[in-house]
Amino acid sequence: MKTSVAAMALALVLSLCLSLSFASRDVEEVGWRRGEEGRERWDEGRSSSEGGRPYHFGEESFREWTHSRHGQFKVLERFDHELLRGSVGDYRVACLDAAPRAFLQPSHYDADEVFYVKEGEGVLVVLRKGKRESFCVREGDVMVIPAGSIVYSANTHSSKWLRVVMLLNPVSTPGRFEEFFPVGGENPESFFSAFSDEVLQAAFNTRREEVVRVFERQSKGEISQASEEQIRELSRSCSRGGRGGGGGGSGSSSEEIKPTSLPSQKPRYSNNHGRLHMITGNECRHLRDLDMEVGIANITRGSMIAPKYSTRATKIAVVVEGSGYFEMACPHKSGSGRSSERRGEHGREEEGEEKKSRGYKQVRAQIKEGSVIVLPAGHPATFVAGNEGNLAVVCFGVGASNDEEVFLAGGNSLLKQLDTPAKTLLFGEQEREAADRVIGAQTESAFLRGPQQQRRGGGGGVSDM
Ligand SMILES: *[C@@H]1O[C@H](CO)[C@@H](O)[C@H](O)[C@H]1NC(C)=O
Repeated sequence: MKTSVAAMALALVLSLCLSLSFASRDVEEVGWRRGEEGRERWDEGRSSSEGGRPYHFGEESFREWTHSRHGQFKVLERFDHELLRGSVGDYRVACLDAAPRAFLQPSHYDADEVFYVKEGEGVLVVLRKGKRESFCVREGDVMVIPAGSIVYSANTHSSKWLRVVMLLNPVSTPGRFEEFFPVGGENPESFFSAFSDEVLQAAFNTRREEVVRVFERQSKGEISQASEEQIRELSRSCSRGGRGGGGGGSGSSSEEIKPTSLPSQKPRYSNNHGRLHMITGNECRHLRDLDMEVGIANITRGSMIAPKYSTRATKIAVVVEGSGYFEMACPHKSGSGRSSERRGEHGREEEGEEKKSRGYKQVRAQIKEGSVIVLPAGHPATFVAGNEGNLAVVCFGVGASNDEEVFLAGGNSLLKQLDTPAKTLLFGEQEREAADRVIGAQTESAFLRGPQQQRRGGGGGVSDM
């Protein structure tokens, strides 16, 4: 135990030194190059990958399930790499883009769905437990749709697209889900078409031709377009939850589903460099049942989130705004990362330097809107916003109960809890003060000045180590 704390402290001190001296120009270039190499290798097979793989997924990792001029639904490939399968292999990420006044056919999934409205506004009608409820959703909303609910929806705006990102948790086959349409035609088909004539006739107490005409001869397609009038009708009785109307009613029953605005949650951390908002199982029973939480980190342009890890949750992060890059320490990959070169200087207590069995590899990739990143529990990671604008990342946390965020630098760094005897043992009498300086030098918490915004002289003494 002790050694791992020591190793961690060392790795951190080192990475701080390094990040201070890392020229920004190189950062961009190295990042892109590594990303491309990583992808090539990944495509070739299972060799250990450079760059963001297997933790980073770009747009090309999505497959279109539906596409028409009124919208599209695309699903990210499965998390079936051995490093991901155990924690998030059961889950799928998907994105829906619906054109102005698009109407989405009623359907149900054999999966629980947690979604975040990235852009636009809409109406969502949910049929479940023998009832119908309609919800108005808008940018920033998070909502849980329990598996098996029949849902139809529409973009209520006459000129803006509605864009939604979602995480699906299949209930029957891990990592695989299907969509079922009661009403259809050629594509999608109605699931009633799979039943025999005599069964349909008996079940509906209607002539077979009638049943078929109603359920199986509709050719509007999965995503069609509604008129202004139809949109008005559809959204007339939509609410924000809490007993048919009004916003954010407090006396909501725990069975209820409703949209909750993520950015309206009191931020867990907030300063000039960014904000973190969360909805956890405490705020939403359905998230608790799914052992999930949802958060959004909105990092100011050029700023960064302090290196941190989650104690239990694995985070599936989707970039919803801006660009930048992420870095993560990955112990599963060994090799000639910068950290293993450094280890030689400082790993004097370790005999088998050659083994490098406890080295870490830097996982890193440029990210932009639509990128998906998996951050496994315990893995220290950071996001850095580009200089163009804010970087906003929605994080779906799975395995979230009793999860804690552990910060590794800044005012709330857990490493500040190291006591003096331990620090003397770790760093020696002479270096202890230097260590205190490094651990205490960053006064901001959670969101920090980014690498390109560092004040000169901030860590000058430390980088001589
Ligand atoms: C992030 O913050 C900026 C500045 O407050 C805001 O304009 C933007 O809408 C936020 N992005 C998201 C996705 O919440």
